[in-house]
Amino acid sequence: MPRYELEGQVAIVTGAGRGIGRAIARRLAREGCRVTVADLDEATAAVVAAEINQEGGESQALAVDVTSKEAADGMVRRTTDRWGSLNILVNNAGIGAVATLLDTDEATWDAMMNVNAKGVLLCSQAAARQMIEQGNGGRIINNASGAGKIAPGKAVPLGAYAASKHAVVAVTKQMGLELAEHGILVNCVCAGIVDTPMWDLIDREIATMQGVPVGSVKEQAVAGVPLGRIQQPEDVANVVAFLASDDASYMAGQTYNVSGGLLPY
Ligand SMILES: NC(=O)c1ccc[n+]([C@@H]2O[C@H](COP(=O)([O-])OP(=O)(O)OC[C@H]3O[C@@H](n4cnc5c(N)ncnc54)[C@H](O)[C@@H]3O)[C@@H](O)[C@H]2O)c1
Repeated sequence: MPRYELEGQVAIVTGAGRGIGRAIARRLAREGCRVTVADLDEATAAVVAAEINQEGGESQALAVDVTSKEAADGMVRRTTDRWGSLNILVNNAGIGAVATLLDTDEATWDAMMNVNAKGVLLCSQAAARQMIEQGNGGRIINNASGAGKIAPGKAVPLGAYAASKHAVVAVTKQMGLELAEHGILVNCVCAGIVDTPMWDLIDREIATMQGVPVGSVKEQAVAGVPLGRIQQPEDVANVVAFLASDDASYMAGQTYNVSGGLLPY
């Protein structure tokens, strides 16, 4: 495993109670970061923070709803209260919903946009204000998705999710340009089919909709991955660790695929 020395840095990872966020929080902690594990679900956040602390890292769990400005500001404040600064924010919290766009109701649309898009904006604003005040740059790394670049297609009806993830890519590009002069590098990762509870949910819902066995939708999706295996949360965490490191110090407003070859561009 490559090592990126992040000793002494302070990071926040949202949606870090499970799945990809958990892997990112653990990886950044192993690189030397003190990590705030933020999640809507306080109990899972506490488990991940305990895992990190048991491994010799330093972590705190916070209950945070990224759709609330007050919660986003509080997350940054409680992190700097504890460790004095903030260097890295990973906007990872996200939700999915299966429905054709024709059948997407307003509540589903609003939920996708609130968590996946507005959550990224609010947490980034809170973090960037702190980083600007500190005056020594920082990193904001957004977890978008392949669905932020291409339409998932008729067989995988994730239209509202895709719209919200396209918004994450747009926020990354624009904020990357706005914050570059402060040395705050905003970049984004687009993963493929990652083995987490989110894809289990997508598989179950599409399977029910199409009347096919549970597991078969995921199996078929993975069959289309050039590297021939499902993606692990750690595959995403590896790229996030790189984007947080000195080696990525000339990258701003960019979007990186880590999808086993699934994404063409
Ligand atoms: N699983 C995939 O195949 C895949 C692929 C590409 C991108 N992604 C993206 O990666 C991120 C993580 O996905 P995952 O598969 O680990 O999902 P997951 O459902 O396993 O975990 C998401 C976490 O986010 C938390 N969360 C949800 N709403 C929140 C809110 N309002 N505030 C704070 N936390 C909240 C949940 O409690 C959960 O712990 C998401 O943004 C997702 O869209 C996932």
